[in-house]
Amino acid sequence: MAEPRVRPLTELDVEAVCRIDERITGRYRPEVWEQRIAYYIRRDPDSSQVAEVDGRVVGFMLGEVRGGEFGLDEPTGWVEFFGVDPSAREKGIGRGLIEALLRHFKENGAHVARTMVAARDKDIAAFVSAMGFTQAPVTALEKRL
Ligand SMILES: CC(C)(COP(=O)(O)OP(=O)(O)OC[C@H]1O[C@@H](n2cnc3c(N)ncnc32)[C@H](O)[C@@H]1OP(=O)(O)O)[C@@H](O)C(=O)NCCC(=O)NCCS
Repeated sequence: MAEPRVRPLTELDVEAVCRIDERITGRYRPEVWEQRIAYYIRRDPDSSQVAEVDGRVVGFMLGEVRGGEFGLDEPTGWVEFFGVDPSAREKGIGRGLIEALLRHFKENGAHVARTMVAARDKDIAAFVSAMGFTQAPVTALEKRL
């Protein structure tokens, strides 16, 4: 495999991101990704990245620096949506993406990065833990409406 190239996400990546999401979830959701991508680019054009191999987008990661949630005042780099094409996994693409986001978060004043993982998503939890994330001192709660 050629060396992956990690670069900032642009609006032109909507289709590629949709296709990766479709391969992961089985759902094709262009309007969802169009909105999400527009949101993240508007908030900060460099804190969301894609990875390309031979000019083809094979992974994406969306995030941003925010502060103030959960009584945690410090600026936090949030890693929020990501996916690597199943055919390109276990080759360091996910690592390359998260390293690019973490670098950018740090440059933007964050000293901590956070993410949330559903308890059933053991694979994602294993990846995030391999990237050095540990249990945070918060409890996730919900109420069905
Ligand atoms: C999680 C994911 C991003 C990993 O991408 P990847 O490119 O295969 O990851 P990498 O090859 O960079 O792996 C980095 C590290 O994570 C570990 N890792 C990755 N996937 C893993 C898994 N399924 N189980 C255990 N460890 C895993 C690797 O062992 C590696 O550790 P190492 O560097 O210490 O050897 C990818 O599997 C994925 O997109 N999963 C689906 C995500 C999803 O459902 N997204 C929708 C919700 S937003």
